[in-house]
Amino acid sequence: MSIKAATTTTETAPTGAATSGRSWFVTGASSGIGRELTLAALGRGDRVAAAARRVGGIADLAERFPGRFLALELDVRDEGAVRDGVDRAVAEFGRLDVVANNAGYGLFGAVEEVSDAQARAVFDTNVFGVLNVLRAALPVLRAQRSGHVLQGSSVYGQTAHPGVGLLSATKYAVEGLSDALVAELAPLGVKVTLIEPGYAATSFLSNLAFAEPVADYDVTVRAVQGSLGELPPEAFIDPAAVARAVLDVVDADRPPLRLTLGGQAEGDVRASLAARLRDLDEWGR
Ligand SMILES: NC(=O)c1ccc[n+]([C@@H]2O[C@H](COP(=O)([O-])OP(=O)(O)OC[C@H]3O[C@@H](n4cnc5c(N)ncnc54)[C@H](OP(=O)(O)O)[C@@H]3O)[C@@H](O)[C@H]2O)c1
Repeated sequence: MSIKAATTTTETAPTGAATSGRSWFVTGASSGIGRELTLAALGRGDRVAAAARRVGGIADLAERFPGRFLALELDVRDEGAVRDGVDRAVAEFGRLDVVANNAGYGLFGAVEEVSDAQARAVFDTNVFGVLNVLRAALPVLRAQRSGHVLQGSSVYGQTAHPGVGLLSATKYAVEGLSDALVAELAPLGVKVTLIEPGYAATSFLSNLAFAEPVADYDVTVRAVQGSLGELPPEAFIDPAAVARAVLDVVDADRPPLRLTLGGQAEGDVRASLAARLRDLDEWGR
């Protein structure tokens, strides 16, 4: 399936570098988008420090790409482990050029249905995990006065529908802090891009956590859940295509702050932005 990339700026033309020789730190590298990003970067000659809680499935990459692959078994919720992982990556590769804050998981249920423990848990990984990586990696990028931070957001960082309120809350949090971060880092030579895919064909749906259902939300949340369950395979973006689009952004001289991926996601984001503008036009004062 081809991918359609809708970006918030028009200056995204790749420079066409085939072998960039960059050093990457990728979280959530054992599966899905992170795994494809790792393979794509290695495939063109870059070096990758690949972090996940279970790295057994990617350990063989060390043999396929000697000296260019480092598996880091760590949990992004553990600040000390993240710091050690970044230190090991820098010791191995000498520098960091791209930091992909990709690890995350989804939670499905009405806002009221989600328990306190579930809400805190998803923020722990999707938001506080991102902050752990930023605090560990940004000193390296600032010292270099170069680098690119890729923030794992989602179409749900721009819009939401019944059932994804808490997942969206984590992605909106990442979007909000990134709106500030991009301006904080620009004078220091460090770029920031939010990656906002629509539905991608990964383990994301099978790793979803679910809230305890309340019958009043069957007409909204369970109806959405049912329709998502009926999506045809072609509704899902190939994660390898996501990785290719991300490489284009990393190669761009002036990368966008937001990279929205997939036709469905682009339509949903446009509808959401139009609705916001309507409210502003009618009610802003
Ligand atoms: N698939 C989609 O439809 C979609 C759409 C928009 C955005 N996204 C975003 O894309 C990112 C990647 O998701 P995916 O679709 O590739 O899903 P995935 O196949 O389930 O991969 C998730 C990755 O995150 C890692 N991970 C989860 N919790 C972690 C933790 N606490 N510490 C370290 N690593 C952790 C997992 O590895 P371990 O379990 O080994 O730790 C795995 O490598 C997520 O941020 C997701 O929100 C996905």
